[in-house]
Amino acid sequence: METKIVKIDKDNIDEDVINEAGLIIKNGGLVAFPTETVYGLGGDALNKNSSKKIYEAKGRPSDNPLIVHIADIGDIEKIAIDVPPITYELAKRFWPGPLTMILKKAECVPLETTGGLDTVAIRYPSNPIAQKFIKASGGFVAAPSANRSGKPSPTEGKYVIEDMDSLIEMIIDGGSSDIGLESTIIDLTSDEPMILRPGFVTKEDFLNVIENVSIDRTILDSSSGAKPKAPGMKYRHYAPSGELTIIHGEPKDVVAYINEEVSRYKAQGQKTGIIATKENSGYYRADVIKEIGNRDDDESIARNLFRILREMDDENVKVIFSEGFREEGIAMATMNRLLKAAGHKEVRV
Ligand code: TXA
Ligand code: MG
Repeated sequence: METKIVKIDKDNIDEDVINEAGLIIKNGGLVAFPTETVYGLGGDALNKNSSKKIYEAKGRPSDNPLIVHIADIGDIEKIAIDVPPITYELAKRFWPGPLTMILKKAECVPLETTGGLDTVAIRYPSNPIAQKFIKASGGFVAAPSANRSGKPSPTEGKYVIEDMDSLIEMIIDGGSSDIGLESTIIDLTSDEPMILRPGFVTKEDFLNVIENVSIDRTILDSSSGAKPKAPGMKYRHYAPSGELTIIHGEPKDVVAYINEEVSRYKAQGQKTGIIATKENSGYYRADVIKEIGNRDDDESIARNLFRILREMDDENVKVIFSEGFREEGIAMATMNRLLKAAGHKEVRV
């Protein structure tokens, strides 16, 4: 299939392109589009054949449910039932934005979209291109991240093109994602709200609005053997082609350990790479060194992670070391993705 690739400026949105994209969705086709978190691979959420096509294009198991994107709070009750009042409190505070809420699904949402579950994940993104595209598409766009299954979520149009060219009808390139990590997912279908995937909206943010919230304990701990509640969280994810290990410890110990390991791999002729905080980056010796941000700048670290993992692949790095980061606030989301990318390979020095 020939994929139409168009660049859109989010400060000057070309309505013709948006209408064309909306028509593709209404006719059962697929369009990749930018959101503030990562790029999405969109199809009509209420058309089971569109959802099937999404799974095919991604190469993703079909028991992994899709998020339905809306562009109007009033549309929640068209696709969800038994909506608890806190949904609206959270929507008022965090929508449009990087939050996905799980609710009981209405009849009209096909099981193909929800991976066979009787619940539905709903998000109202803040990116203006996404909002206009969702409206032009009929209001309900199912969209996973626009990467091939297993690869890091795309935060730049060029990575969507790399993964999806010739597999879908259209790619809208709207520049770099502002947040760079997928939305926080909160389940509102049980007695106590539970965070199923950490993101930019943190536990502390939720506690400013609602009384209690728990966190799915599988998020940072792989050892419990328990199954994550968001089906997609069980898969190996975000992985670069190179072998990635996370090193935790005092900065000087981390630098010393990584440099020693790098020399060992270099002696074997392997291309090496390091994901480093700005404070440390000058002390490393490796083929490729990527600065992810200042140590205390959680937002920058979150925004740069997926791009850097992709760049390690672009540069054909075979052995990658990353410094470990804090595990609170937004940094919890970054560590959750980094741990998955590393297949939970960590060393404490
Ligand atoms: O930021 C985002 O959320 C991006 C952009 C495109 O909006 N989308 C995204 O979608 O990350 P995806 O498909 O890559 O991740 C969706 C996650 C999966 O882990 C899936 O299992 C979970 O959401 N999920 C979806 N529906 C669910 C449901 N009904 N119950 C539990 N988990 C659900
Ligand atoms: Mg994904």
